[in-house]
Amino acid sequence: MSAPENSQDSNPSWFEENPTQDHIPPETRRLLETYSDIPPDDVFDHAVKLRDEAWKIHPYPCIGQFRFLSPSFTSLPDEYHEVVRRLQKGQLLLDMACCVGQTIRQLVDGGAPSENLYGCDLQADFIELGYKLFKDRDKLQSKFLIADIFDRNSALAELKGKMDMVYAGSFFHLWGYDKQYEVSKAVVALLRPEPGWMILGRQIGAGEAGERISVTGNMYRHNVESFKKMWNDIGDDMGISFTVEAKLTPLSRDNMLFHSEDTKRLWFVVRREK
Ligand SMILES: C[S@@+](CC[C@H](N)C(=O)[O-])C[C@H]1O[C@@H](n2cnc3c(N)ncnc32)[C@H](O)[C@@H]1O
Repeated sequence: MSAPENSQDSNPSWFEENPTQDHIPPETRRLLETYSDIPPDDVFDHAVKLRDEAWKIHPYPCIGQFRFLSPSFTSLPDEYHEVVRRLQKGQLLLDMACCVGQTIRQLVDGGAPSENLYGCDLQADFIELGYKLFKDRDKLQSKFLIADIFDRNSALAELKGKMDMVYAGSFFHLWGYDKQYEVSKAVVALLRPEPGWMILGRQIGAGEAGERISVTGNMYRHNVESFKKMWNDIGDDMGISFTVEAKLTPLSRDNMLFHSEDTKRLWFVVRREK
């Protein structure tokens, strides 16, 4: 797929110029009203203002189209409850490439102790914007790190071998196959070197796996088989084994404007077995 063409003004076509209330998912609206205490009548303007600020930091399609407000566990409801329970028992989760940290706020809203949650992103400005979006600077105890997953000496080094769970939303798909493989191994290194950990999340996938040029660059779009094979290969490479669950779901109508018919959302849960 080639990159969509720019619209006549300076914004590319994946920047939604005329947002409507429908761009704020009901679950996120509830979060902004109850967790962030934003009056219902102000939620829409607040979300659009913050989307515009986030867009200036980096014009990702998921920002332009408000998908950064989509709930992170829609197709993983059982895992959401499992993650909250494990966090309540003292386990630790890293939201890798957390952007504004919406996944962290969804987990805290569900009863997870915020001090057991970590967020990491390349862009400090996204993390700052998260505090503004969710209005929780004074109450959220989660620790945020600014780091590049490719930099072995980054702040992520302090989490090495310490995490029990990693959530990775719209992250691995930022690269082609070889780099996804490398980034996946770097994420495994952050987890405790023992059975029981889990990596879960979502990303762009496709019925037919393969590499495409997307608006974010070279993107390998997995299907279920290619995703499982990659993780089996990673396991062989690292001398450990995983159970891998993955499924493809249809993309939303807005999202389909920028993708081919074959494009899907891939949801995944990778657990270390031994
Ligand atoms: C498309 S956003 C996904 C945000 C969020 N996880 C979600 O599910 O909506 C991708 C995020 O990856 C971050 N990112 C990109 N390259 C990175 C890298 N090399 N190391 C760490 N974060 C990176 C970006 O700053 C951005 O916040």
